[in-house]
Amino acid sequence: MLSEKVKALKEEINKYQAVSEEALEQYRLRFISRKGELTALFAELKNVASENKKAMGQELNELKNLAQSRFQELIEELSSSKVSETADHPDLTLPTVSGDLGSIHPLTIVRARIVEIFERMGFNLSEGPEIEDDFHNFTALNFPPNHPAREMQDTFFIEKDPDIALRTHTSSVQVRVMENQKPPIRTLSPGRVFRNEAISARAHCVFHQVEGLYVDENVSFQDLKQTLYHFVKEMFGKETKIRFRPSYFPFTEPSAEIDISCQICHGKGCNICKYTGWVEIGGSGMVDPNVLENCGIDSKKYTGFAFGMGIERMTMLKYQIKDLRLFTENDVRFLKQFTPFT
Ligand code: PHE
Repeated sequence: MLSEKVKALKEEINKYQAVSEEALEQYRLRFISRKGELTALFAELKNVASENKKAMGQELNELKNLAQSRFQELIEELSSSKVSETADHPDLTLPTVSGDLGSIHPLTIVRARIVEIFERMGFNLSEGPEIEDDFHNFTALNFPPNHPAREMQDTFFIEKDPDIALRTHTSSVQVRVMENQKPPIRTLSPGRVFRNEAISARAHCVFHQVEGLYVDENVSFQDLKQTLYHFVKEMFGKETKIRFRPSYFPFTEPSAEIDISCQICHGKGCNICKYTGWVEIGGSGMVDPNVLENCGIDSKKYTGFAFGMGIERMTMLKYQIKDLRLFTENDVRFLKQFTPFT
């Protein structure tokens, strides 16, 4: 009977598993192709009694639709089983994909090296806010109100509030540390600073400094010199010379500019050192007693030294970079060239 054959075929179609491409092709030949079993069943329709023909025709059509939709299902099942098969069993013999490693920004390399050198001398790390008030950036550091020394550093003020500004130097962190800690203090504060300057190869309105502060009993200028002497030799190499040039900062007395022998011409004279053989890397001095008092430290008992150095400046010397703007342009060809040094 035709209807029994239809029923049997329907069961077979529902049960069919396409475990491979071949099995799928077998299915297609048996149930879909024009020479298949379904076509043969349609051919038998002519033998069905006329009163049953309509119902039988319907059954056959349904079977045909089922065969089609089951075929689509089998195709999908087969392709997804392939995917999971490769995911579960990756080909371990394939060569590895060589990943492009990133590189470390030269300023980050140099900052990390500076920190490492001072940490070995017993300095800890401290940080302060980039948005500062007048007290921490100026007043506590012995800049009297309206004193012309404030104009040494072109300041970005926040909106119209003259009390709030972007810090112009990391010396503001000295104040915060001294307010909160008792001597002995030996701290290093690297960070971003801001000055209202036009951007050029030699100047930027955003740059980095590293501040050092040492406060204890009997700290002397000798300690300052020896500390920086050691730092410079570690950072730039044993043959590097250092000199201290008298200078002025409101918060240190006496004050000195820190110069090192030019890393480009090694003292012979070039356009980087303006033919002097020396380049400046920062300022330093003995903490002015007024500053200690402003921060609640007894200036009769304690003395201290401080220094502030430019991280961009040191990086430019270390890697012979001639234009400060390269640090912020994010040109991958530039950034890829740097590897840490010791
Ligand atoms: N803050 C000074 C500057 O930015 C540098 C400095 C720090 C000088 C500490 C002396 C002591 O120019």
